[in-house]
Amino acid sequence: MIKIQNIQKSFNSNTVLKSIDLEVKDGEVVVIIGPSGTGKSTFLRCLNYLERPDKGIITIGEITVDAEKTTESDIHKLRKKTSMVFQGYNLFKNRTVLENLMEALVVVKKVSKKDAEVLARQALEQVGLSDKVEYYPKALSGGQQQRVGIARAMVVNPEVMLFDEPTSALDPELVGEVFEVIKSLAKKHITMIIVTHEMNFAKEVADKVVFMEGGKIVEVGTPKEIFEESNNQRIKQFINKVNK
Ligand SMILES: Nc1ncnc2c1ncn2[C@@H]1O[C@H](COP(=O)(O)OP(=O)(O)O)[C@@H](O)[C@H]1O
Ligand SMILES: [Mg+2]
Repeated sequence: MIKIQNIQKSFNSNTVLKSIDLEVKDGEVVVIIGPSGTGKSTFLRCLNYLERPDKGIITIGEITVDAEKTTESDIHKLRKKTSMVFQGYNLFKNRTVLENLMEALVVVKKVSKKDAEVLARQALEQVGLSDKVEYYPKALSGGQQQRVGIARAMVVNPEVMLFDEPTSALDPELVGEVFEVIKSLAKKHITMIIVTHEMNFAKEVADKVVFMEGGKIVEVGTPKEIFEESNNQRIKQFINKVNK
């Protein structure tokens, strides 16, 4: 269970998050949509303290972190509960696919090399890349690299996976394979918060859709409630615009 209460964040005089509240149940997939510059990435980054919120309380499982009295130990614990998939993969270029996954396990999770290799191979099998374990990232397509990014985020067994526009750096023909992998994780009831501009994917994968604008959550609902039934003009306009 994830509970986010009153998260606020400013960059100098620019108030980017104006009190965000959100609850995510175990196994739930939450998709965040909304215009660019609205604070979606900042919100995700506040959840693992890549950005430090000015105010607010984040609870993930048994860990509760209050922005106004955060310790290094809190941040460390919170980071162990989350993992992020970035737009640009962020793989280590001079390490093989297998080593990229093992690194996360050995360094962050203090898993032995032997166990790390077993877990890494399992994760790579789940994303359909068993035949690429010895490859270096540059020998893979963008879609394959992003599947490695997903496997690397998953292999540490986080309480929640955070995705920030995981397909927006990809050529259109490579988007589908990445979505298929994310959908397969959703079927396994891995808790996920996903920012995306791909509305069809959002409809398919989301238990809950969050529409954000101007640093606030405007509406939360099922895909049907947001995409078909919302009376909010801004939501209707946004959906019409991105669907064109
Ligand atoms: N590290 C930063 N320093 C200063 N301003 C930032 C930083 N990160 C984001 N912003 C600003 O915060 C606002 C929201 O950005 P962002 O969270 O990236 O929005 P979105 O992901 O919805 O496009 C923008 O005005 C952006 O310029
Ligand atoms: Mg963003």
